[in-house]
Amino acid sequence: MKSEVQSKGNFSLIKYSQCWEDTNLVLNTLDIKPGDICLSIAAAGDNSLSLLTRSPKKVIAIDLNPCQLALLRLKVTALKELEYDQFVTLFGYDQKKESRIGLYSKIENKLDAQTREFWSQNLSLINKGIADCGQLEHYFRLFRKRVLPLIHSRGLTRKLFTRRSKQKRADFFANRWNTTSWKLFSKMFFSRYTLKKFGRDQSFFDYAKTSLSNQIASRLVDALVNQNPANNPYLHWILLGRYDFENNVVPFWLEPQNFKCIKANIDRLEIEQNSLESYLSNYNDQAIDCFNLSDIFEYMSEENFSTCLELIASKASDGARLAYFNMLVDRMARINQFEECSTKNSNQTFFYSRFISERINKGNAA
Ligand SMILES: C[S@@+](CC[C@H](N)C(=O)[O-])C[C@H]1O[C@@H](n2cnc3c(N)ncnc32)[C@H](O)[C@@H]1O
Repeated sequence: MKSEVQSKGNFSLIKYSQCWEDTNLVLNTLDIKPGDICLSIAAAGDNSLSLLTRSPKKVIAIDLNPCQLALLRLKVTALKELEYDQFVTLFGYDQKKESRIGLYSKIENKLDAQTREFWSQNLSLINKGIADCGQLEHYFRLFRKRVLPLIHSRGLTRKLFTRRSKQKRADFFANRWNTTSWKLFSKMFFSRYTLKKFGRDQSFFDYAKTSLSNQIASRLVDALVNQNPANNPYLHWILLGRYDFENNVVPFWLEPQNFKCIKANIDRLEIEQNSLESYLSNYNDQAIDCFNLSDIFEYMSEENFSTCLELIASKASDGARLAYFNMLVDRMARINQFEECSTKNSNQTFFYSRFISERINKGNAA
């Protein structure tokens, strides 16, 4: 099967230097067992790495963007070669900017030639901080540095992350946060126009019908009031540009015990540069038990989505689990072999409209 997205997007830059898809939801849904084979859309690699904490037999991380894979390969080498604190510094999760290039030089000769070539041409990204170097992170940074200061002081933004009860969060939101300028500027910034201009390829909106700014406004209430911002690492990065390492409010894969486990299982990761469609069309190995599919179905027509589902079902084991997100396009499997397990609207990566979890039941095949 030919991939629709391959001919549409610009895949010559890092679009995501971090993974913006709630890891705990993905892990809980996939229910990975030792011995399972997992297929995972790589993007920044963080969630594909996180799957290793469940000790599967293999995680195949796949992406058609070679720049995303150069990033993942650097993460893999750094995981093998560096201590936790060094890793955090190299990827720009702390402020020790002066040590980053030195740490890169330490592991440079362990990289394969293609990855080394990529990073030798992009040393400035390492210097500036890889964690903030993707196109989407750049969009978040614009909001944090240029827009947010026009709305709220740094002090008030920090107060948003104070631990408080749900009732107190609702009061803070209503009385301090949700001002006219917040409503106005956030609506303007989180609009389809601005995201297209700064954060995402235009063609990725081909099938989108929903208004992004309205969706984000309502999802933000969920993230700031129903959920506790103090526990949300994604929100920390978007609004403060840092994680709270002291209180362990960091993405799942950067929690020290998970990092250790990923390091121990790192040789079970296989990296493939390909589209999911083309990779599966030629896949003849052991049936796949878990699929972590990001929100790739948004970029496909309904017709291609159905064909892709048929392909997935043909390579999956009976009982295989799937996890994927919808942001602006409704995509949910409606073919026989897919059984819906759950749909969740609330998650820490609040900008998605829903998270879908499904199971393959081969007994339902038509
Ligand atoms: C789907 S995007 C995630 C997007 C992010 N959640 C958002 O909407 O802004 C994640 C990764 O999927 C890759 N990708 C998209 N469609 C793909 C496909 N059909 N096969 C393989 N990788 C794909 C992209 O290159 C990207 O690195």
